[in-house]
Amino acid sequence: MKVLLTGCAGFIGMHAAQRLIARGDDVVGIDNFTPYYDVKLKHARMQQLLDKPNFRFIEEDLVNMAAIESQLGTWRPDVILHLAAQPGVRYSIDYPHVYAQSNLVAFLNILEWSRHWQVKHLTYASSSSVYGGNEKLPFKETDPVDHPVSLYAATKRANELMAHTYSHLYGTPTTGLRFFTVYGPWGRPDMAPFKFADAIIKGQPIEIYNHGQQMRDFTYVDDIVESTLRVLDRPPVAQTFAKGQEPGCAESWAPYRVFNIGNSDPVQLMDFVHTIEQAVGVEANKIMKPAQPGDVTATFADTTQLEAHIGFTPATPLSTGIEKFVAWYRDYYKA
Ligand code: NAD
Ligand code: UGA
Repeated sequence: MKVLLTGCAGFIGMHAAQRLIARGDDVVGIDNFTPYYDVKLKHARMQQLLDKPNFRFIEEDLVNMAAIESQLGTWRPDVILHLAAQPGVRYSIDYPHVYAQSNLVAFLNILEWSRHWQVKHLTYASSSSVYGGNEKLPFKETDPVDHPVSLYAATKRANELMAHTYSHLYGTPTTGLRFFTVYGPWGRPDMAPFKFADAIIKGQPIEIYNHGQQMRDFTYVDDIVESTLRVLDRPPVAQTFAKGQEPGCAESWAPYRVFNIGNSDPVQLMDFVHTIEQAVGVEANKIMKPAQPGDVTATFADTTQLEAHIGFTPATPLSTGIEKFVAWYRDYYKA
């Protein structure tokens, strides 16, 4: 299969690229090495991919359609896996305009390509953050998602709505994946697993937001990638509804779906810190901080719909995944 993969220098993108390459797909990756976090790590991830014969890399901003089209030449993908975005919940409070470009304008470009190239499936990263201020747990795809609490979340929800429009107007099969706080080797330095392990190993204090009164459904990256590839291989089909029957918010008369991809095993933040302390073998120096704007209090994925669709659901225990992450960190940073 010919796959256009965006965000290939990113955390999830690199893992997805490795799996697609290993199974023999013809992969073109796009990334522009945004300086949101250490660009050296992004280049090191690319070193894992660049020597593979069935992988080609285009370094370009997805906002620049013409520049990418000229580098693609006559090559056209069968499917698109769109993982590039400006991530981070709290960063969107201070830098909203970056999100408009990378998450909205770039996404529109992806939709236009999907339409004109008539791709068999556009699969893209949404986020657990779309559940916003919802308090009913676990989160189900059928829950209302009209109350985002960060601009990041709003752009991810906007992606789902934009995708539906293209599924309806042009019959483009689209699937949005609501990833729940992803961690593992090659993880993002701005996220809690990396920040906490890094600080504890260096003997520096960690900051714990909302005095630890938060819960996250941390999900191991291999489970995310396994789920994502299975979804990529199963485009959604249009559903039929009896006259007068309205589709719920996760289904449609158009070939459109959204799925939660999470571990369905949320942990309290302080238990999470303890798991990292155990893996590192050192107790953290903890500084308690107030709740941060944009943060949600708890996440918890219901993955019943995902399991019914692909016969798989994430299940890596947090302690197993964190041990693998810390082993990678120590090896990579010689720490
Ligand atoms: P990441 O930042 O490591 O990877 C994203 C990559 O996209 C980066 O390498 C970046 O350089 C690239 N990129 C950003 N804007 C671009 C643009 N305009 N043009 C070209 N490339 C661009 O993030 P990640 O953790 O791998 O996340 C992948 C996707 O999953 C994102 O869409 C993110 O919003 C989503 N997501 C991640 C998590 C998580 O916990 N990691 C959870 C939910 C959703
Ligand atoms: C993460 C990603 O950063 C988002 O890109 C993604 O969309 C989102 O998951 C998602 O699931 O949709 P977040 O859950 O905030 O967002 O992940 P972390 O930054 O790793 O934070 C996890 C928890 O640790 C949060 O409760 C956060 O408040 C807390 N935290 C984080 C701290 O207490 N201290 C820190 O220094 C950092």
